[in-house]
Parts: sequence; C-alpha cells; structure tokens
Amino acid sequence: MKTAAFYTLGCKVNQVETEQLKEQFLRKGYEIVPFNGPADVYVINTCTVTHVSDRKSRAMVRRIARQQKDSLVVVTGCWAETDPHQATSIEGVDLIVGNRDKEKIADLIDDVKKSESVTTYWRPVSEAAEKLPLWLYSQPHERTRAFIKIQDGCQSYCTYCIVPYARGPVRSKEPEDVLHEIKQLLQLGYKEIVLTGIHIGQYGKDMKGYNLEQLLDEILDKVPGDYRLRPGSIEINEITPPILALMSQDNRLCRHLHIPLQSGSDSILKAMGRKYDREDFRRLVNEVNEQIPGIAVTVDIMAGFPGEIEADFADSFNLLESLKLLDLHVFKYSRRPGTRAAEYLDQIDEKTKNYRSEQLLKLADKKRSEFLSTYPGQTLRLLVEKQTGPGQYTGLSDNYLEVSFTCENDLRGEFVQVQIESVQGRQLRGRLK
Ligand code: 5AD
Repeated sequence: MKTAAFYTLGCKVNQVETEQLKEQFLRKGYEIVPFNGPADVYVINTCTVTHVSDRKSRAMVRRIARQQKDSLVVVTGCWAETDPHQATSIEGVDLIVGNRDKEKIADLIDDVKKSESVTTYWRPVSEAAEKLPLWLYSQPHERTRAFIKIQDGCQSYCTYCIVPYARGPVRSKEPEDVLHEIKQLLQLGYKEIVLTGIHIGQYGKDMKGYNLEQLLDEILDKVPGDYRLRPGSIEINEITPPILALMSQDNRLCRHLHIPLQSGSDSILKAMGRKYDREDFRRLVNEVNEQIPGIAVTVDIMAGFPGEIEADFADSFNLLESLKLLDLHVFKYSRRPGTRAAEYLDQIDEKTKNYRSEQLLKLADKKRSEFLSTYPGQTLRLLVEKQTGPGQYTGLSDNYLEVSFTCENDLRGEFVQVQIESVQGRQLRGRLK
C-alpha cells in the first residue's frame, strides 16, 4: 500500500484543508503515516502570514526534499501560492499546487513521477469565484471537536496583510451544505463544531442577502441536539446585535469571541486600513461582557506596525489592560512584500518590536490569570477532550477554559459538569460533579 504523510503550517483553515486532503488520499487507497517516518508522498501545506511563516515553510520543504530523495514532495498552501518560484527552486520538490487546486492533489499526483523537473499547478486565486464545495467525512478523526470551513478569501486589503493575495476573494459554502456537514459530523459523534474561514464575518457576501448571523440562526434552528457551535475570529464591525442576542439566548452558541484588534491607536488603525477606532472596540467589548456574562473575549494584537511610536503602543497596551479579556494573541509586525505597509518608510526596528511584544505577552499572562481567578467555586460544563495520564483528563468549556480533572471512566467526547477548585497556570483544576 502506498503511504502519504502531511505537515501543516498556519491557520485553522489550513488544518481543515489538510484533513480533507488526508481523507482524499485514504479514499485513493493510500495509508496515512506519521510525517517524521518514511512515506511515498510528503505533502507540506504552507503558510505565509508573516516572514516567520515563510521561513518555517521553506525550511520544512528544504528538509524533506533533502532527506527523502526517493519520495514525491508536494508543496501547497499560501507560501506556494504567493511565491511558487521559491518553491520551484528547491531541489527535490516534485509538485507545487496553488490554493485553487489544492483539493485536487490526490488526483494530480497520479501523473507526477519523481524526476528532475517540477510540475506546477497554479491558477490565479484572484479569479476564484466558485462556491466552496460540500465536504463530507466518511469517518471521524481523533478530535472531539470538528472544524469546518464555511468561507474562504478576504477582500479587506488591510495594509499589512498578504492574506487577500494568497486566498483570493470571498467565497462561501452554501448554507444547506454547511447544515448538511454539521449534521453528518454530529452523527459521527462530534459534539463541538468550529466554524472556520479566512474572514467569516464576510460569510454570504457572494450570495445575495445572506450573512453570518442568518447562518448561525439557521444552524441553531434546524440542527437539533446537544452540541456546541464555536465561530472563529470575527471583526468588531461584524459582531452584530443579532449575533450577540443568539449567544446570550442559545447556550449551544459558545460564549467566545475572538476579535482581531491589531492596534489600540487610532492613527495606527487608520494607517492599517482598519475601519473602527479604539472607542468602538472598548464599547463593543464592554457591551458583550455585560450582555453575556462569562464570555471569553480573545484578541489579536500587533506590535511594531510602521510609525508606531511609544504613545501608540501605550494606547494599545492601556486599552487592552482596561478591558475584561481572556487572552491575547501577539504578533510582531512583519513586512510582507506586495502589501502597502511594506513600502511605508517609518518601519520599526526589531529590538523595539521584540520589547513591545514581550510587554504584550506579559499582559496576556496577567489577563488570563485575572480571568481564571474568578472561577474557583463555580461549575463549568466541559467537553472532555484529552487524556493526560492514567485517570487524568482535560476538557474545554464553551468559554474556552481548559480544565483538568480526575475520573475513572474514559469520558472523552462527552459533556460533564465540573466544580472548579483552583487555578493551575494556564488551566483550571476541577472535580467531577
Ligand atoms: N505581520 C504580523 N502579523 C500579521 N497578521 C496578519 N498580517 C500580519 C503581518 N504582516 C496577524 C494579524 C491577524 C493574524 C491572523 O495574523 O494579527 O489577525
């Protein structure tokens, strides 16, 4: 039997796409094997969101191409999409597939033989207009949470961001296909469905008169059962009152919002091409905390965007410090060729970027500790996810808190009630009720 191994860099969408690829290879009779062992085919699904992602993608491709001289080496994903020439120049790479043809890899590979030359399938993603196809898994994979891709692409062109060039315009999955996929995943035993996309707040932009709030409403209305629905990252302008109303009324919609803030300085937000200001953000976060008690708000924040002076950074820091948040995802600004901000003259030096990002990471620790400190004594409902040792399990609450507890039975994939007893680092510790 032929074997195939996969390596994924970057976002949740990439991870979903790799899962789909794995299943396509399985259907074609391949066995999926670990990436660090021998395989006939290696697929590297790359990322390009920052130069560090580029570097990691390139290093992994180089390593495999060098080590696995007799295997087919396939490179796909956003780094391959935006810079196919770089991938082409790496000796030992056999097949490069742009994002538009990614899902055909299992078939494309039939025609590729190990040779000196590289085969490239690359069609401009900027011209992609097709709706996302229905995707049904034939078997569960190991997780208790299932990730589905409801949308691809972004047309916002924030000045720092390369993603619109890597992913193309907004395309959505038909609502009935989303519902169909969710029903099938629930039948396979999953209890949590995570809705992922590149810019899910733009879901439905390519369908007349349909949007994310309607999709959420329709899922909750038409898909019965004891499950949880977790939306991925949503921009502040796209978190609408009906979405918040659904979140406070229906406990199947997780009390969790991941919001990309990027900066707390109005002048930097403007230079980034973001369409809100710091007060909009403050207002929204305070409002959601009031309306939805216990909600976990997590944030993307960038350090060292061009022109960010001390006062701008202080605006970011102070704004985040003043709000109730569970966590911060900190990114150091990375100059992406082809984006507008890459041409800005007032780039920030690495040392300053490092210092600011360290400050933000410390603030993230403080925010998380403050958030967690209110939980001892409370009860949380968890979806049991992992076994960490004999009789030791961890689960995740709807508001994204990881809780460890002891239990004799293997309850992975089940909902349980846990009384929280203490905070242990980034986790809570509880007792099964
Ligand atoms: N530099 C650093 N971080 C970036 N992100 C996007 N583009 C860049 C860049 N050029 C971050 C943003 C976004 C997250 C997914 O990646 O914070 O929300």
